Amino acid sequence: MSNRHVKIVEVGPRDGLQNEPTVIPSSVKTEFINRLSKTGLSHIEVSSFVNPKRVPQLADAVDVFAAIKRTPGVHYSALVPNEKGLMAALQSNVDSIAVFTAASNKFCEKNINCSIEESIERFKPIVEIAKQKNIAVRAYVSCVLGCPYEGYISPQKVSHVVKLLWDLGCSEISLGDTIGAGTPNQARKMIHACMDVVPVDSLAVHYHDTRGQALANIFASLELGISIIDSSVAGLGGCPYAEGATGNVATEDVVYLLQGLGYVTGIDLGKIISTGKFICKQISRTNNSKVSAAGLPMGYENYEKS
Ligand code: HMG
Ligand code: MG
Repeated sequence: MSNRHVKIVEVGPRDGLQNEPTVIPSSVKTEFINRLSKTGLSHIEVSSFVNPKRVPQLADAVDVFAAIKRTPGVHYSALVPNEKGLMAALQSNVDSIAVFTAASNKFCEKNINCSIEESIERFKPIVEIAKQKNIAVRAYVSCVLGCPYEGYISPQKVSHVVKLLWDLGCSEISLGDTIGAGTPNQARKMIHACMDVVPVDSLAVHYHDTRGQALANIFASLELGISIIDSSVAGLGGCPYAEGATGNVATEDVVYLLQGLGYVTGIDLGKIISTGKFICKQISRTNNSKVSAAGLPMGYENYEKS
């Protein structure tokens, strides 16, 4: 495993803050993103261009994009549900966009007000325009290991949607355990099914940590060759349309795991920990990172990381 590069996609400013009970001031979001930009992260999901009545927490996407200080080499992206969102995202000079659908029809309806099939149709012009503008399109598939409305989701249902998105021209597909229901064996089966239809290096994993399974699922995913992991500083996160779903796996904990396994991330763990503390203080929230809570062990810098 040593020396393999793993990309972390930091989703805290988007997935994290979309689920906060209050709207966080744009200035705090901007400072949060500016701090994240100095940690060595290469990819930050800044916000969403969605209906502001549905997600008021991110209604200031335009303002935040205009205010952040972009660090060269850092990629700033946003969620886009339709052409209207795409146009706003392009005006904000996003580096790339992400469309989002699900492996469960019921969740898809609740989240974006259309069926899976309709969502794919909706994405066609988005991908077309993005291609013309040379902007990469990531796609999310939610509920890959369980749905709050349909229950168990088979690996074949997931791989079917993954193939549709790949054929559409999405270059990276993030597999979302939206409600943190899965365990490693289930995650393995689901990823195997997806690897049968798309290259493994185009797949990302996006585990919410509702039941404490995220790091175990990440370990299982790494063993299968996954090299893109979504996470959120301080374990912020959740989906307003998946009741009971808690935060994403904490970036601090993922970086600690990856460093211990000898993977290359380019991320400064100390800076990630202090950024997590900063945002939790600003928004009066509990820090769900186990590493942040415990602190680094004495002499951590001398630990052998193989
Ligand atoms: P709709 O209701 O079907 O769309 O929404 P519509 O075209 O009928 O428009 C309704 C209203 O929304 C209109 O305004 C539009 O102008 C406005 P009104 O006439 O009522 O004043 N509108 C927009 N405004 C701004 N930007 C836009 C936009 N589009 C329409 N882009 C839509 C469809 C998808 C837009 C809506 O359902 C929506 O915004 N849903 C929010 C979904 C969301 O953000 N969910 C959370 C993110 S997904 C997630 O967290 C999962 C993930 O983390 C992975 C995982 O964990 O599994 C990614
Ligand atoms: Mg999510």
